[in-house]
Amino acid sequence: MELEQAQISWDENGLPHSTQFDDKYFCIENGLLESQYIFCEGNALQSRFENLSSEAPGIFIIVETGFGTGLNFCCAWQLWKQHAPQNWQLQYVSMDLYPLSQEQLKTSLALWPGITDFTQPLVKMYPSLINESRYELSFEKTRVKLVLLFDHVNDALSQLIEDKCVADAWFLDGFDPAKNPHMWSEDVFSRMAKMSNLQTTLSTFSVAGFVRRGLTAQGFTVEKIKGFGRKRHMLKGFYAKS
Ligand SMILES: C[S@@+](CC[C@H](N)C(=O)[O-])C[C@H]1O[C@@H](n2cnc3c(N)ncnc32)[C@H](O)[C@@H]1O
Repeated sequence: MELEQAQISWDENGLPHSTQFDDKYFCIENGLLESQYIFCEGNALQSRFENLSSEAPGIFIIVETGFGTGLNFCCAWQLWKQHAPQNWQLQYVSMDLYPLSQEQLKTSLALWPGITDFTQPLVKMYPSLINESRYELSFEKTRVKLVLLFDHVNDALSQLIEDKCVADAWFLDGFDPAKNPHMWSEDVFSRMAKMSNLQTTLSTFSVAGFVRRGLTAQGFTVEKIKGFGRKRHMLKGFYAKS
């Protein structure tokens, strides 16, 4: 399998910038707070984790489009460690067609010294040579499982549908839809609907009209809410079609 590696330049603040897509991996103000706000709060993860019953252990599944530097994963894992019952497992499934190298990932995650309990183990476990399309990494024994699919988003989602994967929460984190339309297409939204149930939520930084219309057409109810930093709005939603 031939994969094109992420093409990254580093700006004057040391933030990664994709030269393939001419876009940034996270906002310049504070990517960590942005990730916590848009994806963790946008899916109400803290209260959902707190409300999981330790009487009936299970698996909570987050599916992310665009693994990138793994920052969103580290934020979700931190929240899981703080709030979820010990006997539940977080399964974090993410995909990327242009994966970062281990070195690029390490440099990107070094920006966040406050969450090294999560970034360091990720860097250590992340493949040093990516020559498979699927990796499964376990953290804290098996309390957290990271499934990485290095594939086009459409193919990765089709594979997950075959595996009967159902998301509890979606993190939609492709690059800007105008620059990266493959990550925000009808093909993606229809596959998402097949992997959702009435408890499934989503959030994303994008409020582009075709993203809102595309998600709505597939049975998601979406709402524009206050955005992070300079962005006026972001989107959150849930799957509403039975
Ligand atoms: C904004 S970045 C993701 C940032 C990431 N969530 C993080 O925490 O660092 C968008 C990602 O989408 C990936 N991507 C772009 N087009 C893709 C495609 N067609 N299929 C899968 N991944 C794609 C890029 O390689 C990039 O890593």
